[in-house]
Amino acid sequence: MSTAGVISLERDTPELARTYERAGVLQFHHGKFLIGPLVLKSGDHVLDIGAGTGRLTEFVAGLVGPTGRVVGIDPLENRIAIARLRASQTLTFDVGRAEDLSRFGPAEFDAVYLNSVFHWIADKRQALLEIERVLKPGGRIGLNVQDPTKPHESRTLLRQAIEQAGFSERSSESTRVLGATDEELRALFAETGFSDYRSDLRSLVDLHGDVNSVLGWSEASAFGNFLGGFSQAERAAIDAAFAALVETKRTPEGLHLERYLRFAFARKPGSQATTSIS
Ligand SMILES: C[S@@+](CC[C@H](N)C(=O)[O-])C[C@H]1O[C@@H](n2cnc3c(N)ncnc32)[C@H](O)[C@@H]1O
Repeated sequence: MSTAGVISLERDTPELARTYERAGVLQFHHGKFLIGPLVLKSGDHVLDIGAGTGRLTEFVAGLVGPTGRVVGIDPLENRIAIARLRASQTLTFDVGRAEDLSRFGPAEFDAVYLNSVFHWIADKRQALLEIERVLKPGGRIGLNVQDPTKPHESRTLLRQAIEQAGFSERSSESTRVLGATDEELRALFAETGFSDYRSDLRSLVDLHGDVNSVLGWSEASAFGNFLGGFSQAERAAIDAAFAALVETKRTPEGLHLERYLRFAFARKPGSQATTSIS
């Protein structure tokens, strides 16, 4: 969820990676909304960028079958170590970043996707240029990303909690939404050579048993970048205020929190353009 200052890839721990693997089923479900429109078929070569612990990557390997090939990359070694437990003859994982896909040749993949990753990428233009290079002509890209115009409910509550705990002057920076709007994405895709761009903002519901589950999930999915600028005592005050606020979201099923993600799809111009992104 939130970050203060610069995002660092150095703050992840084995414990955060294990927590992510346990709770990552939340990302897996909305990841499936990303995969459907890519119309993957048996034998396709697919790249999952920011694969995390590899749950969705494994699912995609099942879709492309024994003649397909799926590669998952992620900059966090702790996450890739867990993902590698899922590896098979057609599914491999490696440490790597979206901005540098030099290990891959031009036109290697039929499809590339990024599930809840794009908001973390510092140089989005460079990442898209690299993706365009490794896609085959007609190849598809799908990603979902936080939209700064529509923060997750938990982020709005977190901001209130920071203010209630007495740190109003730091609340904006600590809960800043990284990501991209529709206009920014449209421009980025156009200037990096993609066509047929479309996007829509979707609302997804997360159900949590208690506030510790919400906080644990936020910390694990931000790989150590969650509320980094606060001391332990300050964090305790914020967590207490957040716990009270989050309780207002209790339903018989659990704490009901809405998240908003913009799903965007496009293609590299070229000969496979007969396959439609539905
Ligand atoms: C919320 S997790 C999503 C993981 C996975 N895609 C899933 O569906 O569970 C975000 C992931 O983005 C990765 N990430 C952050 N910066 C990245 C970059 N520059 N290039 C590629 N991945 C990055 C993180 O390491 C992290 O594993």
